[in-house]
Amino acid sequence: MSGEAKAKTILTGVKPTGAPHIGNYVGAIRPALRLAGEYAQSYLFIADYHALNAVRDAEALRHDSYEVAACWLALGLDPSKTVFYRQSDIPEIFELTTILAAVTPKGLMDRSHAYKASVDKNREEGRDDDADINMGLYTYPLLMAADILIAQADIVPVGKDQVQHIEFARDMAGYFNNTFKQVLKLPEYKLEAGPHGAILPGIDGRKMSKSYNNHIPLFMESKARRKLVMKIVTDSKTPDEPKNADESVIFQLYTHVADPAEVAGMREAFEKGGMGYGDAKQKLYDALEKTFEQPTQIYNDLMANPARIDEMLEAGAQQARKIARETLSMTREAVGLKKLA
Ligand code: TRP
Repeated sequence: MSGEAKAKTILTGVKPTGAPHIGNYVGAIRPALRLAGEYAQSYLFIADYHALNAVRDAEALRHDSYEVAACWLALGLDPSKTVFYRQSDIPEIFELTTILAAVTPKGLMDRSHAYKASVDKNREEGRDDDADINMGLYTYPLLMAADILIAQADIVPVGKDQVQHIEFARDMAGYFNNTFKQVLKLPEYKLEAGPHGAILPGIDGRKMSKSYNNHIPLFMESKARRKLVMKIVTDSKTPDEPKNADESVIFQLYTHVADPAEVAGMREAFEKGGMGYGDAKQKLYDALEKTFEQPTQIYNDLMANPARIDEMLEAGAQQARKIARETLSMTREAVGLKKLA
């Protein structure tokens, strides 16, 4: 750990939205894990109450919450270093949400991108502005501000789409502090590389996305993984022909999972000629296997034993609730409510 910046607290929330793929890993999960390791304090939580705004299937919410927890743990999140918990296990967050609501202008919520995007979509489809928009979606930024402010976080790593939410959290903390007393810490955002960090191509060459069904899941049996890699699109160049590495989906994916010497080796072999796509796919498969074989096992073990996940998350919640109670108590006192005992 070096420098003053690193003595700060970093916090991230992840919505449980189904099994992640290697695009999510490279673009969001791996950078977040790296960052967590660089700060004195790190908090990572499962934003299950945020997910509830859109999920109407109890079993799905339960399953997806376990899945996202198992995923982060399998990929190296260390719960003895990062405070790892469920949002829904921290009741203080919801009490702070109510306090913040009292100092948050309605106009702020009206300007929320997520809400506005839903209204725009309704208009395009000729429906009522507020069709299918629930209050949870409308006040989404309010809950997110409480998530951040309750933990007295300094830094929140986000994709571009989330920047406004962090600005709102700062605004709300500012309104609160100016109205009552300086008790809430103003957080800053830290932008990830792209909209969601790096963007990876899928097996058909388009952006990797579950909606295109061209994604490579993180956790799968080796055989299925190999089969998927063999399906990656290529042109029809023969093994001997020189190839532009940067135009190859295989190579692009390889750069994210192989070590630099291996990447340089594949680039050279492509450009000189002599590397066939079959060979390259085998190398990519080997690198994926090396990266994800063990995590797949850990993931499967955890999913087979959700009580262990609960245990870890509950221990994390106990830790998170310490600072949460501290923050809530100060805020309550600042507005004229009773301090917490
Ligand atoms: N809104 C975030 C997303 O959709 C998830 C989230 C909820 C979050 N609360 C947060 C992220 C607090 C950072 C900090 O990805």
